Order: sequence, then structure tokens, then C-alpha cells
Amino acid sequence: MRAIITGSGIGIPKNVVTNEMLSRIMDTSDEWIRTRSGIEQRYYADPGEGSAELGMIAARNALAAAGRETGDIDALVFATMTPNYFFPGNGPVVQAKMGFGEIACYDIRQQCSGFLYGLDLADALIRSGKHQRVLLIGAEVHTPFMPWENGWDITIGRDDRQVTPEEYAANTAIRDRTVLFGDGAGAVVIEAVDDESRGLLATKLFTDGSNVEALYVPGVGFRKRPYVSREQIDASDPIPVMEGRAVFKEAVSRMPAAVRAVCEETGADVADIDVLIIHQANLRIVEGVAKQLGLPPEKVPHNIERYGNTTAGTLPILYHELIADGRIQPGMLVCFTTLGSGLHWGAALYRA
Ligand code: UT7
Repeated sequence: MRAIITGSGIGIPKNVVTNEMLSRIMDTSDEWIRTRSGIEQRYYADPGEGSAELGMIAARNALAAAGRETGDIDALVFATMTPNYFFPGNGPVVQAKMGFGEIACYDIRQQCSGFLYGLDLADALIRSGKHQRVLLIGAEVHTPFMPWENGWDITIGRDDRQVTPEEYAANTAIRDRTVLFGDGAGAVVIEAVDDESRGLLATKLFTDGSNVEALYVPGVGFRKRPYVSREQIDASDPIPVMEGRAVFKEAVSRMPAAVRAVCEETGADVADIDVLIIHQANLRIVEGVAKQLGLPPEKVPHNIERYGNTTAGTLPILYHELIADGRIQPGMLVCFTTLGSGLHWGAALYRA
């Protein structure tokens, strides 16, 4: 018994935000963002458009591609670090709004590794015989992390004023993170097949929580009383903090190791990989990992230039684009790899 992906879809908001647009509200430039990260633009959700809404668009497209109806799905896994509500997670929101049966809904986080962990969970649910068809969604809206009162409406054309010097300075103070992220969702339908020659072959998941502060949100959180307070907001605690260089170093060493480990588990050579679907956090990381693994650029596609980093959305969005334009063909060996906040990282090998 194996788990195979029978359909995929994406949900991308309509607002294109270019690097130049960001340079109107903070001290940054198209040149800096392109050179350091490879990003040219990203998409921002509209107010009221949450990760559940983007996830539902992706889910509908994935169901249609798989030729399935909501009634065919017997479990839902939703990976996001930016759910519509603090609790419950997006699972029940999607279950009710899309009209699924009273099925099991798993809400998982794992940030940039959310989709990979979800793939592993779906595989375990299917291979244990517990479920036959699982819908897996990875979706994120990062925009609510931004301090919108500081002129961010200018980026989506809802305001044409000039930011004040104070707002410009406040936006510049967080420019190292904000320019990298975009909103978006991807989804896949995963089904049980009685065919050992294809599907998910192996996964290797890892966690090292010895420095969770490398990439985290200091507040709001339940160690504080109350868990959300004016003081935390004034201290910008709801805005993510990232040690960019430290995370970069972890990414370029741990992802190649995970890819090698998952290949070893199945007896495959790294050179056998036809397509490496790698988390889209920084083009320099993508290129660095490809180089370390000795994989040529044509085997390591990227779309970070258009979407930025969509956290749990990057792997399924890229997978969907590669299926849609034929770069993934039946029989190809596909490897997924990612690393992000936690740190959580890993790799999966999949025979298309
Ligand atoms: O998906 C989750 C996992 N996340 C990642 O994998 C991210 C990993 N880290 C990175 O991708 C990179 O470290 C960044 C893109 C975040 C930063 O690139 P960097 O080459 O490491 O730059 P840096 O942090 O060393 O900053 C270099 C300079 C600094 O100025 P000084 O101190 O040299 O004068 C920054 O203040 O660039 C400045 N800077 C900016 N300048 C213009 C930082 N952000 C910006 C900006 N625009 N947006």
C-alpha cells in the first residue's frame, strides 16, 4: 500500500506587491531584495482573506484535479502557523465551509516544514489503513504580522499617501523579515493505491529545538498573563523575530543532509533525483543546496521570485506548478525538502 498524490491546486491572493512598492514605505530597494533573496514580487491577501480562505481555494482546485468530491475525503490535514483563529485551527473552518462530512481534521503547525510533516502524517494515516483519501493543505497569510497602521495599505493600493518619517523608520526596523514573505496556499489530495512502484517512498523528519528563538514570535503566548496585552503589542512582540544568518547556515547544511538521508533509506542515489522541490525561503539557499548535492539547476526549480516565502505554502505551490507545466512526469523521482522555525526540517522521496 502506498500514498500517491492524485491532484493538486493553489490559492493565490490577487494583490501583487513588487519590491519597488515596498521601497515606498521603508528603506529597501529592488536591488537589495533581488540580490539577497531572489524575490521580485509577492502576493498579499485582502483584509478578511485568511489562510483558511486561501486554503479552500487551493483545496477546491486540488479536489477538481483529482476528480474527487468533498464526500470522497475521509481526513483533512491543515498545516499553517497563521490560522484564522488562535483556536480552533483551520481544519473545522474548512470542514464546515466546504461541506465535508464529520471527518477527522488535523491541525498542524511546523511552520516552513508544515507541508512536509503533513505529507508524512497523511502517509502514515493511509498506510496504517486508517484512511483512504486525505486532503492536505499548506497555507499562510503573513500580512497580518505587518504593522498595517504604518502605511502598509499603500502596498495594496488602498492608500496613496506618503508614510511619515516615523512610520518609515518603524518599517525599516523590520525590513530584514517583511520583504521576504508573501501569502499563498497549496493543497494536494493523497490516496491509497495498491502499487508499490509509485507514491511516497520514504520521509525523514528532524527537529532541533535548542534555539527556538532563531525564528519565532515572542508574543502573544501563554507564558504571559494575560496572553495578549497592550505592553506586548507596544513592544512589537507579535512580529516574528529571525536570526537570518543563523537560519541561513542551518538551511544550507541540514537540507542536503536530510536529502542524503532519505536517499540512503531507499537505496537511491542523490543523482537519481529528477526534481528537487525545496522550500522557497531564499534563492541563495536553493542554489547552495543544489550545489552541495551536485544537482544541476534544471533539476532544482524555483518560484520564489514570484511568491516570496509562503512558509507552509511553498512546497505544494511549487509542486502544483511543476505538475501543471509538465516538469513532473509519471515515473520521475521527486524529492521534497525544507527547513524552518523550530527548527524543523526533513526530506521526502516520492515516485510520481
Ligand atoms: O523560511 C524560514 C527560514 N528562513 C530562512 O531560511 C531565511 C534565512 N536567511 C536569509 O535568507 C538571509 O539571512 C536574509 C535574506 C534574511 C538576509 O540576508 P543577509 O545577506 O544575511 O543580510 P544581513 O542580514 O547580513 O544584512 C546585510 C545588510 C545589513 O546592513 P549592514 O548592517 O551591513 O549595514 C542589513 O541592515 O543588509 C541590511 N538589510 C537590508 N537592506 C535593505 C537587511 N534587510 C534589508 C532590506 N533592504 N530589506
